[in-house]
Amino acid sequence: MSQPIGVERWPDRIDAVLGEHCRTFQRAHVVRETGSTQDAARRMNAGPGEIIVAWNQTVGRGRLGRSWSSGLDGVAITFVLQPGQRERLAIAGAIGAARAAETMLGHPVGIKWPNDILVNARKLAGVLVEQDDRRALPAIGMNVSQTSWPDDLASQAVSLHQLGAMVDRIEVVETLIERMDEALEASDGDLIGSFLERDVLTGKTMKLRNGTEIVSGRLERLDPLKGLAVRTESGECWLPAATTTVLQVES
Ligand code: BTN
Repeated sequence: MSQPIGVERWPDRIDAVLGEHCRTFQRAHVVRETGSTQDAARRMNAGPGEIIVAWNQTVGRGRLGRSWSSGLDGVAITFVLQPGQRERLAIAGAIGAARAAETMLGHPVGIKWPNDILVNARKLAGVLVEQDDRRALPAIGMNVSQTSWPDDLASQAVSLHQLGAMVDRIEVVETLIERMDEALEASDGDLIGSFLERDVLTGKTMKLRNGTEIVSGRLERLDPLKGLAVRTESGECWLPAATTTVLQVES
């Protein structure tokens, strides 16, 4: 690939997207280096309609207390919104990330509920939603130019470059902003339909946790905004989306 577009050119590129294509987002801050764009958003007291993008995110975090590594090979972006329904933000993030990935790859991707973006069962992107009473911070991390992975991730992670999309990171940032802005404008029906077209979990056998309860069974139906209907040995049970986590999926 040719020389990467330098960080000094990112603000103008992003401002052009915000001016031409966005309704929800008006202003972006490009930070050269930060531990996490989530913390940077809070530190900067960023308000609804603002975006924080890191050139280099050094201590990113993922869902369920996991870490998220992106550095100079990934995109780390936090969107700032008014506090809202967490499940809707999580699903809008998944659809924004999925549609952005599809724009760059030219083919469909899968979504593992609630919001892992997968290609051939490997994770290309993830979404984290944090919120307090002042702001909601739906955030996306996408793998862009990694060519290899540490041993523990080698069979689980994939980048756009490994999938043949030789894009520059700023193109990924631009596309994510546009697709996220669109997803936030979409109706619940459109979000649910788009989600279910890409759903990779329904029909699989899995172990889930709802609060302190562990449930094993086959996922019969999924409403990404409401919950999951799981067929267990003792019948069908309904698990609310807000309190349920997928622990393990049988291959
Ligand atoms: C996951 O799949 O567990 C979610 C990953 C979310 C990573 C993004 S990168 C931008 C933002 N800043 C962080 O520290 N995490 C999120």
